[in-house]
Amino acid sequence: MKRLFLLLAALLGLCACTELQRESPLPHLEKRGEATQLIVDDKPYLILGGELWNSTASSPAYMEREGIWDRLQATGLNTVLLPVYWELIEPEEGVFDFSMLDEAIAEARRRDMRLVLLWFGSWKNSMSCYAPGWMKRQFGTTYPLVKNREGRTLEILSPFAEVNCEQDKRAFVTLMTHLKATDAERTVVMVQVENEIGMLQSARDYSEAANKAYHEAVPQEVVDYLKERGEACRPPLYEAWRGQGCPEAGDWEELFGAGLDTEEFFMAYHFARYVEQIARAGKEVYPLPMYVNAALNSRGRKAGEYPSAGPLSHLWDLWHLAAPSIDFLAPDIYDPLFPEWVAQYDLPQNPLFIPEIKHEPCPENGARVFYAVGRHKALGFSPYAIDDVTPDVPRYALKEAYAVLRSIAPEVLSAQAAGRIHGVWFDKAHTEQVVRIGDIELCCRHDLTLGWSAEAAHPELWSETAALIIELGAGEFLVAGTGVVLTLRSYREDDTIVGIERIEELDYHDAGLPVLRRLNGDEDHQGRHLRIPFGQYGVQRLVCYTYR
Ligand code: DGJ
Repeated sequence: MKRLFLLLAALLGLCACTELQRESPLPHLEKRGEATQLIVDDKPYLILGGELWNSTASSPAYMEREGIWDRLQATGLNTVLLPVYWELIEPEEGVFDFSMLDEAIAEARRRDMRLVLLWFGSWKNSMSCYAPGWMKRQFGTTYPLVKNREGRTLEILSPFAEVNCEQDKRAFVTLMTHLKATDAERTVVMVQVENEIGMLQSARDYSEAANKAYHEAVPQEVVDYLKERGEACRPPLYEAWRGQGCPEAGDWEELFGAGLDTEEFFMAYHFARYVEQIARAGKEVYPLPMYVNAALNSRGRKAGEYPSAGPLSHLWDLWHLAAPSIDFLAPDIYDPLFPEWVAQYDLPQNPLFIPEIKHEPCPENGARVFYAVGRHKALGFSPYAIDDVTPDVPRYALKEAYAVLRSIAPEVLSAQAAGRIHGVWFDKAHTEQVVRIGDIELCCRHDLTLGWSAEAAHPELWSETAALIIELGAGEFLVAGTGVVLTLRSYREDDTIVGIERIEELDYHDAGLPVLRRLNGDEDHQGRHLRIPFGQYGVQRLVCYTYR
């Protein structure tokens, strides 16, 4: 009997052990050297992603009919950003249906792809259109809404109503509990909490609860933060406080002055507090990395005229303070000035991730991803409306770019951590950039400035191009991207020559990254430069020699 018992216990132990072994390690963010990276299956992971149109994932049948999963895979995405809709997962209060999500996870897993889930909960592009019908029918009564300055009610759940937050939190926790129970393989690697939170039509909420909070003393933690961080805070917040004489107590207007900026600070703090409750409760159940995304104020509009008080770079301190469970703020980029926007979100405690960027069929996004990853050590990149992809188009920019990046991802990720990676970016106003590494200057240019490509005669073809450069060893580099010409120069003030010993074009379609061709003669302008032509994508190894 005793022996039978021991045998059973051993068998049970074995089963439990196999069970444990099947559970993959949790995805998480980790500071590795100079970069913060997403770790998946215990290895750094680069998101080569795309976000679906808002309504695509509401129907697995639609996705199948349109062949969307296959198209995403054929485009070379390794990650899909996919919404989870509160109204559909909780169609009746307390009754949950995760079948859509389960199917999406199964489809992604089948293709060895990962998912980032977008929680369309209380807010989607400022509005509250994804709240379930049973809640909407009680909007303004059980579930308080925002009021504008004139006292008119807006279809935006008020962040000052605990009951709103409680309902959202309960649904989100149920989602995270379901994921924990069903996604042992960690197909889902990260979660976006809400979507483009922000006030529209009014800079702040004028509901009764909001008015009360606005005229109460600013929470002590805000004052303590300002005192402690001082000038290290993003300028608008600190300048406003300094403008008032750095008071240590008072209501929002006493601390920061009356005006739209103060109303935006106030709302940002309270949006962040609301989100914190949801993210913290979700992480307590299942601690995946979590972030929030921002609609940018690209046209210099005033608070209330654009989705204000969201997770914007100028409000970073308030979001960071009030929502510590949120790992980073991320920009949705739909306007020009790409380098300026991404720089604003690459902060010491805020790794850059681009969850949305306008989907240009070609060639800008193919170029931008190299710059984001090389210059700003981005965790990943993800054009919006990715289901529009038509990967059968010859030389589809994003597909080519992702294929190159997939092949060099291990080198990219270790160079990010070691600080051995650089990015260069060109448009009509910025055609040259010099990267100095030790005594060598890599002078990079948009290739059309040199007239080497046939396209050079057509100024209308000019567009953004970019490349990343990885230091492989002394005088040895990996260059990947599109539309770049690179010449070498010595930094020393003597007649030292830095020349090209050899250039190898690597075959990024082969996982082993073998040498495809030795490039010389016309292909490197008789040893004068390295070139990846405009409209083409490639990766080349450059070995230099120095002559003194
Ligand atoms: C930004 C939002 O976050 C997306 O969900 C989508 O609405 C896009 N704008 C495009 O309209």
